[in-house]
Amino acid sequence: MLKGRSFVEPENFSLEELENLFFLAEKMEKDEKFMRESCRGKLLATLFFEPSTRTRLSFEAAMLRLGGSCLGFAEPGSSSAAKGESLADTIRMAASYADAIVMRSPKEGAALLASRYSPVPVINAGDGGHHHPTQTLTDLLTIRRRTGKIEDFTIGFCGDLKFGRTVHSLAKALMRYKKIRMFFISPRELVLPEYIVRLLQKQKIDFLQKESLEEAMPELDVLYMTRVQRERFFNEEDYIRLKDTYVLNREKMEAAKKNLTVLHPLPRVNEISVEVDDDPRAAYFAQAKYGMYARMALLALILGAA
Ligand code: CP
Repeated sequence: MLKGRSFVEPENFSLEELENLFFLAEKMEKDEKFMRESCRGKLLATLFFEPSTRTRLSFEAAMLRLGGSCLGFAEPGSSSAAKGESLADTIRMAASYADAIVMRSPKEGAALLASRYSPVPVINAGDGGHHHPTQTLTDLLTIRRRTGKIEDFTIGFCGDLKFGRTVHSLAKALMRYKKIRMFFISPRELVLPEYIVRLLQKQKIDFLQKESLEEAMPELDVLYMTRVQRERFFNEEDYIRLKDTYVLNREKMEAAKKNLTVLHPLPRVNEISVEVDDDPRAAYFAQAKYGMYARMALLALILGAA
């Protein structure tokens, strides 16, 4: 039962619970009427202390499509955080108005802290360079929709693996599935955090860390491109030096498998050339749409409507 539960990291839900959520999301995608009024009368608070297009809008679209309503803010300057209110107090207030809270913060651990103060479920919509578990739901659902299963494939994560919270959440989530091989492709300055490398080793996951995308390309079933996270750099010069390390273009796609799936959490800056958008292997815009169905299923489950 997911009713009343917070979602701070992907591992908060068992594989069986995730399977049930994906089943519901697929039903919601295929049947426009399925569960459409199931959250009528419920309120979702969306508290975004960092910019967002997809996560915030897809959560709001999800809640509205379920018949519920939304309130919240899209940037901290329009909340009393700008006057110095603590996160704990902001969360206590939001929880007294709404039935669930979705929050994004630049601070690692903020969603976990919020979940400890909140009597209603808290959903982590991104906490600094740490985790982004509902993006992982989106990513897993897309893989499932494209390949029919979440097992036995080789995935390459490419780009900013140090600050890319979507990579951290997806890599950790995939460690629980069978026969997943992982390539981590990044410049040396942006390698995966040590704690995730240690987890991969501990769980005996088949993985390699590389600098060359070209070398990995022919091996991959899924390529997960990421943006270099400018907002997490201390130094603009380092960002400028590293930002275009990897640019996926038509030429690089020629070396890939015919049934490759290219994912990207978006927004993209320059790391996927627009000429790749028309390639049938490019799944990143479909992925963003699956995100809305994944979030609909999540809301229906934690609000006790499913
Ligand atoms: N993928 C993602 O988190 O996008 P936004 O930052 O636009 O929400």
